[in-house]
Amino acid sequence: MNNVEQTLSIIKPDAVERNLQDEIKQEFINKGFEIQKEKKIHISKQEAEQFYKVHETKPFYNELCSYLSSGPIVVMELSRENAVLENRKLMGATNPEDAEEGTIRKKYGISIDKNSVHGSDSLENAKIELDFFFKN
Ligand code: CMP
Repeated sequence: MNNVEQTLSIIKPDAVERNLQDEIKQEFINKGFEIQKEKKIHISKQEAEQFYKVHETKPFYNELCSYLSSGPIVVMELSRENAVLENRKLMGATNPEDAEEGTIRKKYGISIDKNSVHGSDSLENAKIELDFFFKN
């Protein structure tokens, strides 16, 4: 059955800083994702606050937004069958310590904050997050 979806992926500052973006992009390609859109950007703290608004009430919100705006990131539109779920599987658990072998966060993540990648958690949020970065 054809259930091709688009999802948003972000390669976070810790990974871009270590020049891992090409290696991480290859991980997606190896799992059948197509990178349909891509840009390297450096967002402001205000933009990060808007992007992570769903986490507004969390104790880690301020640090999270400071972190995402601390350096360049690579944002991508990824496409494949069941892209939202398959991307989450490939990323692994939020905390790299809990992530399974072979996942991106297990391989490259440093900590729960510096966990190298973000991915949309639902199809609905994927649309919102893709619009956030790619709608002019
Ligand atoms: P991400 O998938 O980008 O979504 C929100 C981010 O908050 C998450 O990855 C983590 O990097 C970060 N974060 C920091 N502390 C926590 C926490 N205690 N629980 C969940 N996410 C956290």
